[in-house]
Parts: sequence; C-alpha cells; structure tokens
Amino acid sequence: MTGPGAASPVFAREAAFALQAGGRTLACAMSLVSAPLEALEAAAANWLAPEEEALLTERLAPARRQSLLAGRWAAKNALGLLAPGIAARDICILPGLFEQPVATLTGRANLQVTLAHAGGAALAVAHPESCPMGVDLERAAPEHLGALSEQTTARERERAHAALAFDEPQRLLLLWCLKEALSKALRCGLTVPFGLLEVTSLAPLPGGVRARFENFAQYEGIAFAAAPFALAVVHPHMAQWEGGEGGASPLRLHDWLASLGQR
Ligand SMILES: CC(C)(COP(=O)(O)OP(=O)(O)OC[C@H]1O[C@@H](n2cnc3c(N)ncnc32)[C@H](O)[C@@H]1OP(=O)(O)O)[C@@H](O)C(=O)NCCC(=O)NCCS
Repeated sequence: MTGPGAASPVFAREAAFALQAGGRTLACAMSLVSAPLEALEAAAANWLAPEEEALLTERLAPARRQSLLAGRWAAKNALGLLAPGIAARDICILPGLFEQPVATLTGRANLQVTLAHAGGAALAVAHPESCPMGVDLERAAPEHLGALSEQTTARERERAHAALAFDEPQRLLLLWCLKEALSKALRCGLTVPFGLLEVTSLAPLPGGVRARFENFAQYEGIAFAAAPFALAVVHPHMAQWEGGEGGASPLRLHDWLASLGQR
C-alpha cells in the first residue's frame, strides 16, 4: 500500500509468517510502523476507506488521530500481505461492539487483524479468523511503574525474576504486554480482573520470553523488550510459530523493536 512518503520520518516494517496447527498452515502477517501525524494525514486519502475517514472527526485529539491512523496503516500493511491485489482503500477496519478491530476486505473472507499503538508507533498482526490472536505494544514510562507492579501477582513477579534477564521495569512491562495481548485475543480487553489474565510460566527467548496463562491454557504468547518499547503477540497454543518461538519470524519482531527504539 502507499503509506507516507519516504522522505518523511517514517518507520515501516512488514513480513508474512505462518503458524502450524495440527498439520494446517495458517498464513499470518505482521507490521510495525511509526510516523508523525502530519505524514499520516498527508497520505491518508490514498489508503483510508471512506468509512474509516468518517472515524477521523475533528473532535479527536491529535494524539488519537495519530494512533488511529498509525494502527490502520500497520493493519493494512499486514492484511495486504495476505490479500495481495486488494487496494488498501478496499480494506476497511471499523470498531466492533467491544471496540475490537473488524476488518472487511472486498472479495476475501476469514481474515482479521489485531493491533496496538504506543508512543507514535503501531503494531498489527493479520490472521485467519479461525485463529484468534491479540497483540500489545507499550512504550516504557517511569510514572507507570507503580501501576504495572500493582497489576501483577507476587507469583508472576517471582517467576519473571527467576526466568528473565531483564531489569524489573522491563519485566513488568513484558508481563503487562502479555496480559493485554491476551485480553485482545479474548475480546474482553482490560475489563476483567487482572488476576484472571495471570501469566503462569515463562521461558526465555533471545530478547524476550514465551509465556503461558494460568486460566487460559488454550493460549500462549511471546513478548520482546527493546528499550523503550515492549510488545507481545498471543495466539492459540495449538498453533505454533513455523520454526519455533526462537525462529526467524518472532526474532524479526525483536529486531524491528530494537530498530524502532534506536530512532
Ligand atoms: C482493548 C484495550 C485493552 C486497549 O488498550 P489501549 O491501551 O487503550 O490501547 P492499545 O493501543 O493497546 O490497543 C488499542 C487497539 O485495541 C483494539 N481493541 C480495542 N478494544 C478491543 C477489544 N475489546 N478486543 C480486541 N481488540 C480491541 C483496537 O483496535 C484499538 O485500536 P483502535 O481503537 O485504533 O482500532 C482497552 O481499550 C480496553 O480494555 N477496552 C475495553 C474493551 C471493551 O469492553 N469495550 C466496551 C466498549 S463499550
């Protein structure tokens, strides 16, 4: 798709990947972007569907306009990889009843997307509707540390401390990302008690962690941290990354995050 011009301070990465579930290959795609509002607005007419343009009312604060546009840009990058030949304007992502993104692609069924935005950046993963997924992206903010800590259990903090070679703020951010990504896969968002989303096991990955959940054994997640950002992708446990969690696709996410953080 046509995004903001190359001369603008824009970061954009996208890649297809696959999950394997019981002999089935599930085609997915991911995109991480960052762009200032002016660059996004300058190009938006090229790739926003009319119904999406209607979301951008004058009442929206600039930061919300930026996040809405960046999220849709990342989402369309990812969906476009799974549906080549469909123009970005023919992909429409509107909020569902729970504010979840609902993608409609002319001539294509069974594709959905999950997205998150933080600190001017946005992450999206496009996936088959049959394979619910959730993502989160956060930018570290020292003033949020207390709240992040309060939203973890002592068991989670102990497990993270034992398993992960990150400092305490990064461990807390990784736990938060995993739980928020799970809440999106479930479509409930953070409307449920945080304890329900508890992380039960953590195994280190290069630059990140693989996690399972106490109350949702049917899901698992990976999360990466590269200061000042952290991200998580949650997917069904029965659908495993092609090449494993330490494979090229998950690690690419970490590399993207590190590049984003260095800008
Ligand atoms: C989902 C939630 C955790 C997102 O947290 P956040 O820190 O505000 O934002 P993030 O950048 O991480 O993610 C935002 C994206 O999550 C997605 N999202 C929002 N609600 C969602 C839900 N219930 N399920 C899955 N995804 C959701 C959206 O795509 C949103 O981006 P967009 O509004 O630009 O399309 C939070 O908004 C929440 O808890 N919502 C409550 C959901 C709900 O029940 N709403 C009822 C409305 S009456």
